[in-house]
Amino acid sequence: MTITRRDFMAAGALGTVGLCVTGHLTGQVLEARDLPPEDGYRLWLRYAPPAPAMAARYRAAVRQVIVEGYTPTSQIVRTEAGNALASMLQAAVPTSQTGLNAGALVIGTPANSPAIRSLGWTRELDALGAEGYIIRPATIGGHAVIAIASQGELGALYGTFHFLRLMATGQPIGALNQRERPKVMLRMINHWDNLNGTIERGYAGASLWKWNDLPGTLDPRYTDYARVMASIGLNGAVINNVNVNVPNLPIFSAEYLPKVAALASVWRPYGIRMYLSVNFSSPVTIGGMKTADPLDPGVAAWWRTKADEIYALMPDFGGFLVKANSEGQPGPKDYGRTHAEGANVLADALAPHKGNVIWRAFVYDDDIDPDRAKRAYIEFTRLDGKFKPNVLVQVKNGPIDFQPREPFHPLFGGMKHTPVLAEVQATQEYMGQAKHLVYLGTMWEEFLQSDTWAKGKGSTVAKAIEGAVEPYSVTGFVSVTNPGQDRNWCGHHFSQANWYAAGRLAWNPELKADQIAEEWIRMTFTNDPAPVATIRDLMMRSREIYLNYTMPLGLHHLIGGNHYAPMPQNSGGPRRDWTAVYYHQASTEGIGFDRSSKGDNYVGQYFPPVRDMFDNLATCPETYLLFFHRLPWTYRLKNGQTLWNGLVSHYNQGVRDAEAMRATWQSLAGAIDPQRHKEVADRLDIQVKDAAAWRDQILTYFQQFSKMDRV
Ligand code: GCU
Repeated sequence: MTITRRDFMAAGALGTVGLCVTGHLTGQVLEARDLPPEDGYRLWLRYAPPAPAMAARYRAAVRQVIVEGYTPTSQIVRTEAGNALASMLQAAVPTSQTGLNAGALVIGTPANSPAIRSLGWTRELDALGAEGYIIRPATIGGHAVIAIASQGELGALYGTFHFLRLMATGQPIGALNQRERPKVMLRMINHWDNLNGTIERGYAGASLWKWNDLPGTLDPRYTDYARVMASIGLNGAVINNVNVNVPNLPIFSAEYLPKVAALASVWRPYGIRMYLSVNFSSPVTIGGMKTADPLDPGVAAWWRTKADEIYALMPDFGGFLVKANSEGQPGPKDYGRTHAEGANVLADALAPHKGNVIWRAFVYDDDIDPDRAKRAYIEFTRLDGKFKPNVLVQVKNGPIDFQPREPFHPLFGGMKHTPVLAEVQATQEYMGQAKHLVYLGTMWEEFLQSDTWAKGKGSTVAKAIEGAVEPYSVTGFVSVTNPGQDRNWCGHHFSQANWYAAGRLAWNPELKADQIAEEWIRMTFTNDPAPVATIRDLMMRSREIYLNYTMPLGLHHLIGGNHYAPMPQNSGGPRRDWTAVYYHQASTEGIGFDRSSKGDNYVGQYFPPVRDMFDNLATCPETYLLFFHRLPWTYRLKNGQTLWNGLVSHYNQGVRDAEAMRATWQSLAGAIDPQRHKEVADRLDIQVKDAAAWRDQILTYFQQFSKMDRV
């Protein structure tokens, strides 16, 4: 039987062809122009055959798969490895529990696999923990093999995905010596899905969770989802919107919890733990009580009973995510209590079950300070040390709200006694949604590598969230995520890269954006070096291009409406801090928000060298200029241009670069399958058109103040 490239591409299931053949195949890699269409469903788990020479080397190295374990997770490991290898090697690879021979890929733990136990690696594996693993050549029973070993079954699963990624990206596997463990414990995504099937800030179709069909009918996509999550090391998901408004309340009800539990049972063998967003006034809205005051003993009892009910259905339930006293959500301040008092009543209910409360710091009550950027720091640093040990505070990367560029939030490094987890946003709410090609790996690397100086040089945000600046007992990294029911999951094929990057950075916040991009391209599109380099360059530049035609030089929140097209003129609505004019403050005198020590001293929330760097015009990076400083239109930028001319140049550059991105993508026709190539090209047309329109609209608006020409 010969398998053609078309057979491979046409395979229906996520990731693999599921071959059932014997003997080696001579399938040729077809010319690029013959590539059959792909719809993107398989994301980065396509397991495409590598170049023939590499395939031959892989075939020689891996001739069978031995997984001795028999639990559902071991079964998954066996199936994943077997299918993936068959697909990549275009050869059947016998997969079994016994009959180990030379050339075996042996996967397991000392507890579930005598073969792995015989290696004598137990001490080394213990040091790497239940999610860590070793991938290394070894000799078992006199046979030369490759071993993927872990102390725990999930570690073996993660190691398997790592090994398959090496092959899918065309890496040598002969002399591997990989020792890995995640640097972060809670590696999560937050869905902002509503029970009615809509998704807040979702740009890829309806919610994946089919509440009407659950718990009886389990959409196969739930399994595909879990597989995709585990493949990048994610281990938790909050499935419902942080805005637990009235239509969303029943998630906690006796009708819905069994549905949630059914979903959790699909994810369990993949190591994905279930979490729920909860409404703080649930004791009232669901429990029928008169109060949700966290210091009321009846309220505490209500939460304990609810927690017990949930854990009876899901013994490994992760915990609660809470958006309280923010954007209309109820919270402890409604009863004159603090965020800590609010979080602690939930924490006490979850503690006997080892669950966590994840309490969001996205709060900005205007009685705290006139500047929205300052408010969360002021409220939460006051409470540092007052939270129970199983509370984590979830902090957005910047102090405003997922803007194209913000400085890192000063709560990173600012909380000494309370674990802080980072929240980034993979769904591109302010970043072109699923219409613009914007790779966020670069933005997150910039954020994670920012030095807080909390404990001297090198106290980066990454180190802070890893618990390496303050020794947090729990650590976490979260992305507000983007998949929906669109066939390609994320709307834009390139938005898949943001899901991927969020998972990889949650595993290891020190990873570099270009390495992540390259892995993703190789698995998602092609291993051919020339297009890989071209696409990587395009991705690496894409966020700066987007910034240039939207909010360069530290501008932020030039938004209104649906958070898509910038609206610098937006000045109305219920709250001043939801407008654009509040942030840019453009007038004939100049533009920008003075947060320096001469202004509202937001800079004072950073540790001294960072504070001084932002405070001083000579050292403040121009990328953050108007975030920290208010300057006249004639202010001279470092390149000698006036501020106005500099703005004009950035916007023009952004438009030119968007056009160049489109041209570059067009040049890849033939290197990418026609369906995905066209779908990306169509969106790039929108991007180019928007970039020009947005530039014109923004500059026309600002020009009424600068009164200078657009040269
Ligand atoms: C943004 C977003 C809202 C969301 C909020 C949050 O303001 O526009 O839709 O609810 O962030 O993070 O809670």
